[in-house]
Amino acid sequence: MSDFRLCVLVSGGGTNLQAIMDRIDDGSLSGIVISRVISNNPDAYALERAKKAGIEAVCVSRRDYPDAAAFNSALLSAIKESEPSLVVLAGFLVVLPREVIREFEGRIINIHPSLIPSFCGKGYYGLFVHEAALKRGVKVTGATVHIVDEGTDTGPILIQKPVMVKEGDTPEILQRRVMEEAEWIILPEAIRKMADAEEGREN
Ligand code: GAR
Repeated sequence: MSDFRLCVLVSGGGTNLQAIMDRIDDGSLSGIVISRVISNNPDAYALERAKKAGIEAVCVSRRDYPDAAAFNSALLSAIKESEPSLVVLAGFLVVLPREVIREFEGRIINIHPSLIPSFCGKGYYGLFVHEAALKRGVKVTGATVHIVDEGTDTGPILIQKPVMVKEGDTPEILQRRVMEEAEWIILPEAIRKMADAEEGREN
């Protein structure tokens, strides 16, 4: 049986990418490989993490293209070249071009740092999500992995995990707790689930 291939898209630190690599290393994601990591941001530490692990890491930056259409088509090509079974948005902070969503319909997942449908949609990404949760005064937040459709954070939910908000939390403290207690656990779990579903279809 051939490997289940991930193309992981990132923009920043890459701790979610690291969580995937760690679960591949410890055998929880057996039969799964990362075929390529793509960042829109040349300075993303996630690219370093990939290179250190011997994974092909490429940057497709909007700045290197004359217009959005050229960037979108370069991004689509970079993903297609890696022949992914699944595209994983692991802190990819660019709205995914429609042509990418259409090409890989049902085969793109995203990790979002809240319990969708709270604090999601346009403008809710990274620390802004946790700022909004604290401002609203919620006592429970969490993370969601969902399948990507053409809306922003609107696709079918695969896994969610709640995380308690604590007295005195700052957006940074809450972000870290949501990563540790939810994101780094449910993103690999969702990948396992998608790979197992694919295997079920093949057999
Ligand atoms: C993560 O918290 C992820 O959930 C969030 O960006 C962070 C990336 O961290 N994604 C979004 O907000 C998407 N809307 P990382 O680079 O350390 O994995």
